[in-house]
Amino acid sequence: MFELNGRVALVTGASQGIGEVIAHGLARQGAAVICGSLPVTEVDLQNVVSAIKAGGGKADYVLLDMLDAESIRAAVHTTVERYGALHILINNAGVTKDKLMIQMKEEEYDLVLDVNLKGSWLASQAAAKSMMKQRWGRIVNIASVVGQMGNAGQSNYATSKAGLIGLTKTIARELSGRNITCNAIAPGYIATKMTESLSDEVKEGFVKQIPLGRMGTAEDIAGAAVFLCSEEAGYINGATIPVNGGMLMP
Ligand SMILES: NC(=O)c1ccc[n+]([C@@H]2O[C@H](COP(=O)([O-])OP(=O)(O)OC[C@H]3O[C@@H](n4cnc5c(N)ncnc54)[C@H](O)[C@@H]3O)[C@@H](O)[C@H]2O)c1
Repeated sequence: MFELNGRVALVTGASQGIGEVIAHGLARQGAAVICGSLPVTEVDLQNVVSAIKAGGGKADYVLLDMLDAESIRAAVHTTVERYGALHILINNAGVTKDKLMIQMKEEEYDLVLDVNLKGSWLASQAAAKSMMKQRWGRIVNIASVVGQMGNAGQSNYATSKAGLIGLTKTIARELSGRNITCNAIAPGYIATKMTESLSDEVKEGFVKQIPLGRMGTAEDIAGAAVFLCSEEAGYINGATIPVNGGMLMP
């Protein structure tokens, strides 16, 4: 579909869910994919890498914690050292800690902002150095529909994802001169471990708001991510692509 041969990609939060499927999608198009995630997910990362390799793709993994600036910089450094470049960064790692704002603890707010937003800023900053030298790069930030419309119980998460959209536009403005694009994807409700603990009642409530009448899949998000990393998407910059089944039409 899209030619990514010769490209090197780092996908954060690739041990499961959307990140795992994006890693597979990039590898299928020929990219060498470095799957990054927390040390506790090492076995899962090894399984993702083995599955990509079994399918004929090129893959590797690095351990990183989005709360630890040094580990993020080290992951980018290791990627560039092993593969000679870093062309694609997918800022996908994310967490939720849901609670109504009046009940939310400051630590719960900080944790979600630090992983989802600051971690993506740190990774983009580290990756930009290599991309600027190469004069080619793609940064894709996985935001959320919730960052566009808000959601009761997710003041920390919605703020982090709205911030990610602002970060996306700013990176796009700062780095385009070096042929680096930065875009966001705003997924709607996607069936992964992140949403699996929601009650059937809550899930049905969401599905009622979705014109396509179903939750999305990680594959729905991966398709958009792979496209944004392609040569063909080279004139899309600073955009937030909604992949939400029509739930919000911004
Ligand atoms: N599932 C949804 O409905 C949905 C909707 C909109 C946006 N998103 C976003 O998509 C992304 C992926 O979500 P998912 O549904 O696959 O979730 P998930 O919980 O299945 O996967 C999250 C990934 O992030 C990693 N991660 C968490 N904290 C980390 C840290 N401190 N350092 C490094 N890695 C860390 C986890 O190990 C895992 O690999 C997230 O940014 C999420 O906010 C998901």
